[in-house]
Amino acid sequence: MKRFLEWRDDWYLGIDVIDQQHLRLVDLVNRIAQSMEAAERQSGAEGASLELMLKLQDETRCHFRDEEAFMHDHDYPAQTSHHREHALLQAELRDLVREIVEEKRVLDFDTLISLKHWLINHVIESDLEIARYLEKR
Ligand SMILES: [Fe+2]
Repeated sequence: MKRFLEWRDDWYLGIDVIDQQHLRLVDLVNRIAQSMEAAERQSGAEGASLELMLKLQDETRCHFRDEEAFMHDHDYPAQTSHHREHALLQAELRDLVREIVEEKRVLDFDTLISLKHWLINHVIESDLEIARYLEKR
């Protein structure tokens, strides 16, 4: 079966701790997609995704914190704008999870697809910049 979010090798930063966290986030997004598919097949499985969404929120927060510490330790010049991007992503994820918890919104595939896009775009556009900077140094 095709995975919802297929990891590509050119997304590796070559920074082991960050790469491992990115892989975990991708894995979590795939597990959320799987749990949604399962819930669709059998009724009564609703809420299966919530626990995973909370986990995604938590792991994203830890990952951003570690990535920010890494940028700081390596005097990465664009860290302020990168922090801002993290804060924005985190706020969006927090709002989404809150709305799901408060049952103002259900997690649907469109939402998960946009979640997948922000994750990939952030990795491709901003995180890979960190790897390029380290290479040039
Ligand atoms: Fe980042």
